[in-house]
Amino acid sequence: MSLVKSKQRVADHGEVFTPKWMVEAMLDLVKGETERIDSRFLEPACGSGNFLVQILRRKLAAVELKYGKSDFERQYYALLGLMCIYGIELLADNIAECRANLLEILAEYLNLDESAELYLAASYVLSQNLVHGDALTMRTHDDRPIIFAEWGYLGKGKFQRRDFRLDTLATSSMFSAEGSLFAHLAKHELFTPTKTYPPMTVSELAAEGSGDVQAEASV
Ligand SMILES: C[S@@+](CC[C@H](N)C(=O)[O-])C[C@H]1O[C@@H](n2cnc3c(N)ncnc32)[C@H](O)[C@@H]1O
Repeated sequence: MSLVKSKQRVADHGEVFTPKWMVEAMLDLVKGETERIDSRFLEPACGSGNFLVQILRRKLAAVELKYGKSDFERQYYALLGLMCIYGIELLADNIAECRANLLEILAEYLNLDESAELYLAASYVLSQNLVHGDALTMRTHDDRPIIFAEWGYLGKGKFQRRDFRLDTLATSSMFSAEGSLFAHLAKHELFTPTKTYPPMTVSELAAEGSGDVQAEASV
């Protein structure tokens, strides 16, 4: 795989992709986390997903080890693994490739075709978690604040979603610093979701549709 698309893109956006051997070596530095299904990873300049792809592969290997014998649990925990992967990317073609690459890996692992509810649900999750935007300004390509969904699995096929603004999450460490006026506040007082959703099934997630709907997320 070529690590560069064009000299112009390298000059304009610093677009040089990381080779697989280096991705694996770097992920090995946090091996335990990469093999935990519900550990959360955010790649703020994710390109076409060279890191996120390998993180998903590792999570799916963990799913197989733990839930490989139950088709039901295998599917839901594989989706949960995907739900815990986040990315931001400035360029439209890269973020589209990144979403497609992750979806292909999940679909291959679960043997899903494109009309399967789980496939559509995963596509929706990727449209929320992989954001076309600017990690420096923390705004989407159409100039809205970047919002990330925190997903959790409640069991029995139901997922919980709460939304948080990235700029709030990124600055909250300043508030909890020693000496800060807000240091006495508990985490839940600083981490306030912008929206909390009722528990959702895979069918409901699939019905939310696919595509770049980050712009529609409410603040
Ligand atoms: C050095 S490449 C790395 C891509 C990927 N992380 C990898 O290792 O293969 C940097 C990527 O960040 C993107 N990028 C540059 N500035 C960015 C910004 N402010 N916010 C989000 N993405 C950005 C570029 O378009 C490019 O795809």
